[in-house]
Amino acid sequence: MEIIILKSVITPLLLLSGFCFGFCTPIDTITSTQFIKCPETLVSNGSAFKLGFFTPADSTNRYVGIWYSTPSLSTVIWVANRDKPLTDFSGIVTISEDGNLLVMNGQKVIVWSSNLSNAAPNSSAQLLDSGNLVLRDNSGRITWESIQHPSHSFLPKMKISTNTHTGEKVVLTSWKSPSDPSIGSFSAGINPLNIPQVFVWNGSHPYWRSGPWNGQIFIGVPEMNSVFLNGFQVVDDKEGTVYETFTLANSSIFLYYVLTPEGTVVKTYREFGKEKWQVAWKSNKSECDVYGTCGASGICSSGNSPICNCLKGYKPKYMEEWSRGNWTRGCVRKTPLQCERTNSSGQQGKIDGFFRLTSVKVPDFADWSLALEDECRKQCFKNCSCVA
Ligand SMILES: *[C@@H]1O[C@H](CO)[C@@H](O)[C@H](O)[C@H]1NC(C)=O
Ligand SMILES: *[C@@H]1O[C@H](CO)[C@@H](O)[C@H](O)[C@H]1NC(C)=O
Ligand SMILES: *[C@@H]1O[C@H](CO)[C@@H](O)[C@H](O)[C@H]1NC(C)=O
Ligand SMILES: *[C@@H]1O[C@H](CO)[C@@H](O)[C@H](O)[C@H]1NC(C)=O
Ligand SMILES: *[C@@H]1O[C@H](CO)[C@@H](O)[C@H](O)[C@H]1NC(C)=O
Repeated sequence: MEIIILKSVITPLLLLSGFCFGFCTPIDTITSTQFIKCPETLVSNGSAFKLGFFTPADSTNRYVGIWYSTPSLSTVIWVANRDKPLTDFSGIVTISEDGNLLVMNGQKVIVWSSNLSNAAPNSSAQLLDSGNLVLRDNSGRITWESIQHPSHSFLPKMKISTNTHTGEKVVLTSWKSPSDPSIGSFSAGINPLNIPQVFVWNGSHPYWRSGPWNGQIFIGVPEMNSVFLNGFQVVDDKEGTVYETFTLANSSIFLYYVLTPEGTVVKTYREFGKEKWQVAWKSNKSECDVYGTCGASGICSSGNSPICNCLKGYKPKYMEEWSRGNWTRGCVRKTPLQCERTNSSGQQGKIDGFFRLTSVKVPDFADWSLALEDECRKQCFKNCSCVA
């Protein structure tokens, strides 16, 4: 497993560290009368997380965010006013009269809101030690929570989901750049069609996929077989929502996933009591991890030059384009399948067979068959739209 010191991923931040006024007791809750203003912070009970104002490196803008309160290297995991930065030091985080959580600038202009149309008066917002910021009405019922509105980070117990009835998705969205948390072009979510897969999209185009979920791991991510990488679950709640979530098997490790401005999912961790965050895994290690680099029926090997080849029995669909190194339109069969031959020309020939491929992701749009291997093979031979 590759362990790299986390230099490029952690955004160096100028954090306006909290100092105390009068009694030095950190608070974790905001109410309509107890608000925080720059540079104050909320500290979760247990001190794992802080909420407050921060300025990204190479920026003069200020944002309200939640970060791991590690002593020296701090990592922002959630940002409220991503698209409307504060430009001075006069912002506040408070609860409005109608019970919404607000970020306002010095001119009392709302730059971010929890946007509930039915918020309850006298609500309060608490930063939990899981990194979740929850808004509750005065009976204690949660009306809004930050983990349902993720930024670019995926933390334990969060849910990345898709509702198959409404198409509604909860996704991670990348920052534009390390100095700009506004919404970038990449998003990461779950695609529940056929068999659930995790996708990273660049705009609306797929950029990376995990391969299908087999009940334990995403099979295109073989590293998940290590104990260190598992703990994932994909759940169908039977009401139309499919979500993925993970828990930590080892409580002496802090661990989360970040979607970088370049579209790479990075798993980072820190051992309890240590200050250094480290990279445990990355989704994009080479060009071969980019969706569709070699096109349909092409096979990508980052060690080869060129990296793309056609599968055995296939040839480039457009030879000239392919030899120029543009592989996106992929490969086609040299000889049609038997069932296509008999259907079209009545011509017979050699009998089709299967060729075993290893160390490749199964194709996108794969489907389950309950049949055993021999039966599956027979069913596939009989069915012209089954190609592998
Ligand atoms: C709140 O609602 C307004 C209007 O519907 C919308 O423009 C804005 O983006 C929403 N803000 C958030 C933080 O969702
Ligand atoms: C909100 O709190 C104030 C002060 O504690 C109280 O007077 C008021 O009745 C409360 N409003 C609601 C709707 O509970
Ligand atoms: C938990 O992580 C720590 C630090 O890496 C390690 O020393 C320990 O063996 C792990 N415990 C388990 C149960 O895996
Ligand atoms: C590769 O070929 C496709 C299809 O012809 C075309 O749309 C695309 O622009 C080409 N890409 C490059 C980098 O030339
Ligand atoms: C043939 O295969 C396709 C794709 O796998 C499947 O959707 C279809 O139901 C199959 N048809 C029959 C008759 O099994």
